[in-house]
Amino acid sequence: MEIKATAGDITSLETGALIVNLFEGVKQPGGTTGAVDAALDGAIANLIKDGEIKGKKGELTLIHTLGKMPAARVIVAGLGKQDGFSRHVVRSVAAESARLVRRLGVRKAATIAHGAGIGGMDPGESGQAIAEGAYLGLYTFTRYKTNEENGPELDELAVVERDSGKIAELQAGIDKGRILAESANIARDLGNEPANVLTPTEMAERAGEMAKAAGLEFTALDRPQMEELGMGALLAVAAGSNRPPMFIIMQYKGDPSNESNNIALCGKGITFDSGGISIKPAEGMGAMKGDMAGGASVIGAMNAIARLKPKINVMAVVPATENMSGGSAIHPGDVVRTMAGKTFEIISTDAEGRMVLADAVAYVKQHDQRRIVDVATLTGAATVALGNDISVVMGNDQGLVDEIIKSGETTGERFWQLPMLEEHRDLIKSDIADMKNSGGRPAGSITGGYFIREFAGDTPWAHLDIAGTARTDKERGHIVKGHTGIPVRMLVDLVLGLAENSG
Ligand code: BES
Ligand code: MN
Ligand code: ZN
Repeated sequence: MEIKATAGDITSLETGALIVNLFEGVKQPGGTTGAVDAALDGAIANLIKDGEIKGKKGELTLIHTLGKMPAARVIVAGLGKQDGFSRHVVRSVAAESARLVRRLGVRKAATIAHGAGIGGMDPGESGQAIAEGAYLGLYTFTRYKTNEENGPELDELAVVERDSGKIAELQAGIDKGRILAESANIARDLGNEPANVLTPTEMAERAGEMAKAAGLEFTALDRPQMEELGMGALLAVAAGSNRPPMFIIMQYKGDPSNESNNIALCGKGITFDSGGISIKPAEGMGAMKGDMAGGASVIGAMNAIARLKPKINVMAVVPATENMSGGSAIHPGDVVRTMAGKTFEIISTDAEGRMVLADAVAYVKQHDQRRIVDVATLTGAATVALGNDISVVMGNDQGLVDEIIKSGETTGERFWQLPMLEEHRDLIKSDIADMKNSGGRPAGSITGGYFIREFAGDTPWAHLDIAGTARTDKERGHIVKGHTGIPVRMLVDLVLGLAENSG
């Protein structure tokens, strides 16, 4: 689908569906919606009077124009109350209305730039939110449906703006929104892919293809290279699987003359988490094909970063392996020596994410990274604490955590900080090694984070636990069933913001 900014009068446009909007409580539509209402002899105002149209957020009303206008249909999208209006509403409305248009079998549609009129939004912001909403909201994963009767796809969405002076800015916003949404959709595709297809080798293959297309440096280390580097923690997790592990490395050099202006993104890449010998219950285990969502999100984010070209250097790494219980698998009670030299005792082989991230963090530290953000579906406790609409953040550097929370608010991929106290560190003390890989149920997300923190040391570091937000069964706005692509857009916003401030 193409989304393009188009100058002109929306009421004279020939198209399958025209999307206009209405704030809640408005009795007499104004602006473009008012002009469309006039062309329809007051049909919208009448439906408001009858109480069918209320303008509530998420409300969509379909009106057939029956020859009164060149457009075949009008869709009135409710924006909710004006004081709760934001780009998040625009993104959501764009997604829901695009899905309605697709259900109707319409190939060509047009929309007004929601918010750019009385909403007081600048055209770029509106265009970006519309593109994000439409490209994310229309996402499907149908690769394995052989007899799906797919209706026609929406081919073209025109974002119509009367003032031709605003078109360039509107289009720039659309272009940025498209890059962000397509990058999140890369992460979604990887997360939705089953584990028999998306093995560590295949994940590296796909990351390599993305890197090549986007112009990023790429390498992937295999088992002998991991052995050479002493990546004992990653190799310990990989020991129970016949599918070889891969350590994926991508680099973006946006400030080559200033190498220390950098950030590293480390994403958990467990392509299937059975729990290992500390095996998980059978029910719902299939969802653990998505235990590489953190890794997928850093791959997706690198695609956007390569295309948006911020002035900063970014290294992304994904320790990719399965967590299985094969004959050479690690056992509870085992002691492992990590790449950093620290040792730990395995309490649960199911606490594998922190193990592979320990070596990933050690690796990026060896490569002089000045800030580290790790992203992982690390703990079920993150869902217990915050549910499925907000992710966990913690860290050793309040400035970095604050930037993440801010980027979360900007993009709608929200984060809530959990504390990290000395007392929490005590929960992962071991009698026989430097630490243990599980502190049990109390403060489960925090102890998981603390384990990784030990490897970050003094380097500013933040840990994102997306176990509750990476996947969903509930369609809402730009989020569709399956993997969400969270937190790709937040990560990109974070990196762009850091580049602005340190450039
Ligand atoms: N991948 C899981 C966490 C998870 C659970 C992600 C549910 C998404 C949905 C992780 O590897 C895990 O098993 N964590 C354990 C840690 C425990 C053994 C300390 C958990 O959360 O129970
Ligand atoms: Mn696990
Ligand atoms: Zn896991």
